[in-house]
Amino acid sequence: MDTIYKQPKKQILAKFSLLILSFFLSINSVSAQDGEKIFKQNCAVCHSLGSNPIVGPGLQGVISRVPSEDWMFKWIQNNEALIKSGEAYAVKVSTFSPAAMPSFTSLADGDIKAVIKYIKEYKEPAPVAATAASGATAPVEKPTNPLAILIGVLAFLIIIVAILRAVRYSLKNIQNAKKGLQNEAKVGVWKEFKNTVNAHKRTTALVIIFLLGGGLSSGWYALKGIGVYEGYQPTQPIAFSHKIHAGDNAIDCQYCHSGAERSKTAGIPSVNVCMNCHKGISKGPVTGKTEIAKIYEAAGWDPDKGAYTKPQKPIQWIKVHNLPDFVFFSHQQHVKVGQQDCATCHGDVKTMTTAVQVKPLTMVWCIDCHRATEVPGMQSNPFYEKLHKNLTEKFKNMPYDQRKITVDRMGGIECSKCHY
Ligand code: HEC
Ligand code: HEC
Ligand code: HEC
Ligand code: HEC
Ligand code: HEC
Ligand code: HEC
Repeated sequence: MDTIYKQPKKQILAKFSLLILSFFLSINSVSAQDGEKIFKQNCAVCHSLGSNPIVGPGLQGVISRVPSEDWMFKWIQNNEALIKSGEAYAVKVSTFSPAAMPSFTSLADGDIKAVIKYIKEYKEPAPVAATAASGATAPVEKPTNPLAILIGVLAFLIIIVAILRAVRYSLKNIQNAKKGLQNEAKVGVWKEFKNTVNAHKRTTALVIIFLLGGGLSSGWYALKGIGVYEGYQPTQPIAFSHKIHAGDNAIDCQYCHSGAERSKTAGIPSVNVCMNCHKGISKGPVTGKTEIAKIYEAAGWDPDKGAYTKPQKPIQWIKVHNLPDFVFFSHQQHVKVGQQDCATCHGDVKTMTTAVQVKPLTMVWCIDCHRATEVPGMQSNPFYEKLHKNLTEKFKNMPYDQRKITVDRMGGIECSKCHY
C-alpha cells in the first residue's frame, strides 16, 4: 500500500510540466479581443465574478474597490512589479492569499482592456445560472451566449411595449376628441405597469411562473454541462448494500476500506474480505441467494462442497468517485491527520443501498473546505497549545475569522499541493 507514495521522480516532473504547459498554453492562445473568453481561459480558475473567493477574491464590484481602471490594468499586467513599487492598495491586496497571482505580461494591451471591460460590465444572470458561471471548471464554449439572446429579446419587447403604448394614447385621444373630451393625462411607465399588473393578477402570476421555470431549467442544463459528476450512481456487478453492512450490521468502514488511515486510497475490499463472512452467510434479507452466489462465483467457492474448487476472478466494481489524474488527493492526510469524517465528503453512506457521489469534487469544493476548516490538533498538543495561546494574545485585535489557523493558512491552497 505504502508504495503508492513513491511516485518515480520522472513521472512527477512530467506531470508537473504538463500542468504548467497547459496552463500557459491557455494563457497564450488568446487572440480575439473577447473579454469573456480571455477571462474564462486565464482568470476563472482563481476568480469568480460573484462575491465568493476561489484562490483570489471574488471580482464582484471590484472596479469600485480598486483605485482606478489604470491600476487594474497595471495589476493584471504585472502585479509583482506593482506590489514592489509599494503602491498602497496593491500591497494591501497582496496579503489576501499566500498564493500569488501570476503576471500576464503575455497578454496584449487590448486583451487586458477587453477583460477589464468584461469584468466591469458583467451582470449576474439568474441566481441559478450564476452558480454554473462562477464554477472554476467552465471551459465549455456555448455556440451562442444565452445572456445575449435574453438581452436582445428584452430590448425587442421594450420597443414593442413602447410602440403599443404610443398607439394606445393616440387612439384614445382621437376617441376623446370625437366625444369632445380632454386628452388623457399621461401616467408614468411604472405607474401604468402597476395598474396593469393589478388589473391582471392571474396573467402576471402565470408569467412569473413561466419565467422561473425557464430560469431553473436552463440553470440545470448549464450545471449538467460542466463535467461535474455529483449524483453519479452506477449499477454495480454485485448489488452490494452499504445500508445492510455499515448500517444494519454496523460493520466499521475501515474493516473494508482499510487504506483510509494509512494510504492515499481508501481501497475497495478484495473478494477474500467478503468471504471472511460470506463463507457462512449465503442468504441475504433482500436479494436472497442470487447476489451472494456471485461472490462465490468470483471466489471460486463451491458452497455445497464447502471448498474452493475454481480459480478466483476479481469482482469488477465500477469506480464512483473519480478525480482527474492531475489532482493529488490522499485519504491519509484527510482521515488521519485532518480528522475529517467520511460522511463530510461521502455523505451518509450507512443509509445507501447503492453507493452514490454526493459532493461535486471540483476544485472550488476542495478549496472552500480548506479555507473554512481549522487544522485540528493545535489545541490537543501542549507545545502548539502554548504557542497558539501566545499568538492569539498577540493578534487579538484581528477579526476572529482571520485568527483561525485554517488549512489554507498552512499552504493548503498552493497549486503544487494538489497538482504535481
Ligand atoms: C493563480 C490564480 C490567479 C489567476 C489565474 C488570476 N488571479 Fe487575480 N488574484 C489572485 C490572487 C491570489 C489575488 C489576491 C492578491 C494576492 O493575494 O496576491 C488576486 C487579485 C486580483 C485583483 C484585485 C482584487 C481586489 O479585490 O482588489 C484583480 C482585479 C484580479 N486579481 C484580476 C485578475 C484577472 C483579470 C485575471 C485574469 C487575467 C486574474 N486575476 C487571474 C489570483 C489569481
Ligand atoms: C463490508 C464491506 C464494506 C463496508 C463495511 C463499507 N464499505 Fe464502502 N464499499 C464496499 C464495496 C465492496 C464497495 C464497491 C461497491 C460500491 O461502490 O458499492 C464500496 C464502495 C464505497 C464507496 C464508493 C467508492 C468509489 O467507487 O468511489 C464509498 C465512498 C464507500 N464505500 C464509503 C464507505 C463508508 C463511509 C463506509 C462506512 C460508513 C463503508 N464504505 C463501509 C465495501 C464496504
Ligand atoms: C476530504 C474528503 C474525503 C474524506 C474525509 C474521505 N474521502 Fe473517500 N474519497 C474522497 C475523494 C475526493 C475520492 C476520489 C479519489 C480519487 O478519485 O482519486 C474518494 C474516494 C474514496 C473511495 C474509492 C476508492 C479510493 O480510495 O479511491 C473509497 C472507498 C472511499 N473514498 C472511502 C472513504 C472512507 C471509508 C472514508 C472515511 C474513513 C473517506 N473515504 C473519507 C474524499 C474523501
Ligand atoms: C463482516 C462481515 C461481512 C463482510 C466482510 C461482508 N458481508 Fe455481506 N453481509 C453480511 C451480513 C451480516 C449480511 C446480512 C445477512 C442477513 O441479514 O441475513 C450480508 C449480506 C450481503 C448480501 C445480501 C444483501 C441482500 O440484498 O439481501 C450481499 C449481496 C453481500 N452481503 C455482499 C457482500 C460483498 C460483495 C462483500 C465484500 C465486499 C461482503 N458482503 C462482505 C456480512 C458481511
Ligand atoms: C471536508 C474538508 C476538506 C475537503 C472537502 C478537502 N480537504 Fe484537503 N484538507 C482538509 C484538512 C482539514 C487538511 C489538513 C490536514 C493537515 O493537518 O495536514 C487538508 C489537507 C490537504 C492537503 C495537504 C495540504 C498541506 O498543506 O500539506 C492536500 C494536498 C489536500 N488537502 C487536497 C485536497 C483535495 C485535492 C481536495 C478535493 C478533491 C480536498 N483536499 C478536499 C480538509 C478538506
Ligand atoms: C485543494 C486542492 C487544489 C488546489 C490547491 C488547486 N487545485 Fe486546481 N484542481 C483541483 C481539483 C480537484 C481539480 C479537478 C476539478 C474537476 O475535475 O472538476 C482541479 C482542476 C484544475 C484545472 C483544470 C480546470 C478544468 O477546467 O478542468 C486547472 C487549470 C487548475 N486546477 C489549476 C490550478 C491552479 C493554477 C492552482 C493554484 C492557484 C490550483 N489549481 C490549486 C484541486 C486543487
